[in-house]
Amino acid sequence: MKKPLIEVKNLTFSYNGEKPLFENLEFMLYEGEKVGLKGKTGAGKTTLLYLIMGFLKPQSGEIALFEKPRKREEDFAEVRTKLGFLFQDPEIQLFCPTIKEDIAFGPLNLGLKREEVLKIIKEVSEYLGISHLLERSVLQLSGGEKKLCALASVMAMCPQVYLLDEPTAGLDEVYKERLYRFLKERANTYLIVSHDSDFLEETCEKIYYLEDGNLKQIK
Ligand SMILES: Nc1ncnc2c1ncn2[C@@H]1O[C@H](COP(=O)(O)OP(=O)(O)O)[C@@H](O)[C@H]1O
Ligand SMILES: [Mg+2]
Repeated sequence: MKKPLIEVKNLTFSYNGEKPLFENLEFMLYEGEKVGLKGKTGAGKTTLLYLIMGFLKPQSGEIALFEKPRKREEDFAEVRTKLGFLFQDPEIQLFCPTIKEDIAFGPLNLGLKREEVLKIIKEVSEYLGISHLLERSVLQLSGGEKKLCALASVMAMCPQVYLLDEPTAGLDEVYKERLYRFLKERANTYLIVSHDSDFLEETCEKIYYLEDGNLKQIK
């Protein structure tokens, strides 16, 4: 039988000795699955994504990515480029002087040649309709523009799985349509954190609700 791409087993986590956010949490994401995650502010959704990405380490339990348990930073680093993580706050994602450089950052780090990188920048920016923003810095963008530019930088890596933290925040109808189109046409496997129920209903076949450290499947 096929193994999940993301497997969270028996996970316990708390921030610096505080009350645990999760105790014995279980979660799995298989290739091709489109999953949503809802929950109140402060429920721990972003924290769960950080744990999956290896930005935070659990007190106990196991996180397996691409069929291997990941414990140390090197284990996560080995597969992190295959996980397309969209930060809730796009200003963490966009840190270069221009958006163009932000989009180029990942592919250049993968060792792609300049011409290939330029082709990727053109392709993703045209696809998301942000070509006119490439020479700007993140400080010269609206909230919705920031989100789509951050998504462009994630897309440029061609990740196998997308983990999107509040992707609709700040998007108007036009930009939201572009996000819908992207999910439909370009994203095969994803976990989306959002408080936008209609959006999750439309884009996800399975939805979980996170409350008191437990995941309850509600779709
Ligand atoms: N670095 C941190 N140190 C201590 N507590 C934190 C830290 N980051 C987040 N928290 C707390 O952990 C809880 C979950 O936060 P978060 O995962 O961001 O929730 P959500 O994304 O569901 O809104 C919140 O109560 C938040 O205040
Ligand atoms: Mg959050």
